[in-house]
Amino acid sequence: SLPVDSVQALAATLATSDHIPTRYIRPEAESEPVIIPCEAEDDIPVIDFHKLFDPELSEAESSKLHLACQNWGFFQLINHGVPKEVIQKMMFVIEEFFKLPLDEKMLLKQRPGQLEGYGQWFVFSEEQQLDWADILVYHTWPLHLRKIGLWPTNPSTFRDALDEYSMEVKKLANCLLGFMAKNLGLDPAEMARMLENGAQSMRINCYPPCPEDNKVLGLSSHSDASILTLVLQVNDVPGLQIRRNDKWFLVKPHPGAFVANIGDVLEIISNGKYKSIEHRAVTNTEKERFSVAAFHGPNTNATVGPHPELVLKDEPFYRSLDYESYMKLFFSSKLDGKSFLGRMKL
Ligand code: SIN
Ligand code: FE2
Repeated sequence: SLPVDSVQALAATLATSDHIPTRYIRPEAESEPVIIPCEAEDDIPVIDFHKLFDPELSEAESSKLHLACQNWGFFQLINHGVPKEVIQKMMFVIEEFFKLPLDEKMLLKQRPGQLEGYGQWFVFSEEQQLDWADILVYHTWPLHLRKIGLWPTNPSTFRDALDEYSMEVKKLANCLLGFMAKNLGLDPAEMARMLENGAQSMRINCYPPCPEDNKVLGLSSHSDASILTLVLQVNDVPGLQIRRNDKWFLVKPHPGAFVANIGDVLEIISNGKYKSIEHRAVTNTEKERFSVAAFHGPNTNATVGPHPELVLKDEPFYRSLDYESYMKLFFSSKLDGKSFLGRMKL
C-alpha cells in the first residue's frame, strides 16, 4: 500500500472545511437519501442468540434468523454469550491505542504490500479517493497465521484482549453458521468442518470526526468477501449504513450487540438464497467512532461455489473456484474497481 497520512492527525489540524484534501472528497456521500429507522419495519432484525438454544423458542427464533438472512442480509445479534468483560477489554484497548501519539502508532505502520498493521485499506494508486479512517488489521485465525509481532503492545493488555476477543467471536460465528446451515437445509456438521480452520481476520476502525461530514466517507460502499462478518460498534456512535431498496439505512448501535452480515462467500454457497448486502460507514462532525469487523471465511483449501445440495434442482447462479483463486480474483477486482461478485455470476 502507498503511504497515506494518518486521518486522525489530519482531522486534528482541521478547523474548516476548505482544508479537507480533495483526495477525501466523495460526492456520493451526500447524493443519496438516508433512512434513520424509527418504525420497526425500517429497522434491521434483532436475533436473540440465546433463544436459538431454548427448546420452546428455538424454532421461532430460527425462522426469524432465516428471514433476516434472506430479506436483509444484516441483523443485530443480542444475548450472544460473548462475556461482557471480553468485549469491554477489547473496547478499552482500541480507544487507548488510538489515543497514542502518532509516532508510536507509526511503529506499527503497514509495510509496503502488506495489509496487517496500522494504516489504510487497499490504497493502490495516487489518484484513488481515500476513506476518512485509520485502521488496524490482523489475521487472527488459524493460529499459525497470527503474526503476533505486529500486534500492539501498548496498551499492555492489547494482545491479550485481541486474543480473547478473537477466540470468543470465532466460536460464536461457527455456532451461528451452524444454525444458518440448518436453515438452508445443509448439514451443520459439514459446515463446522468447513470452518474449523477457516480464516478469521479483524479490521479495527477509527473514524475521526470531520468538519464537513457529508463530504467524506469513513468507509466506501462495499460488500464483504467473507462468509459471515460480526461487527462491534465499539463506542455506540452511529455511522454504519446498509443499502436497501436504493436507500441507505442507518444501523443504530445496539449496546453490547454484534451487527452480523452475510458476506459474498455465503451468497455464493447458498446459491443466492442469502444475499451479501452493500454497506458503508459515514463520519460525523463531533465524535470519533470506533468499530471492529471480524471477517470469517472458509478453510484455505475449500472450494467456493454453490453447495452441491442446493443445485440439485435449481441451476447454479455462480461458478466454483478454489479459495486461493477466489481471493486473487477478489483483490484484482478491487484494483479495477468493478463489482466483485458480478465476476462470480454465471
Ligand atoms: C464494515 O466493516 O464494513 C463496517 C464497520 C463499521 O461499522 O464501521
Ligand atoms: Fe464490511
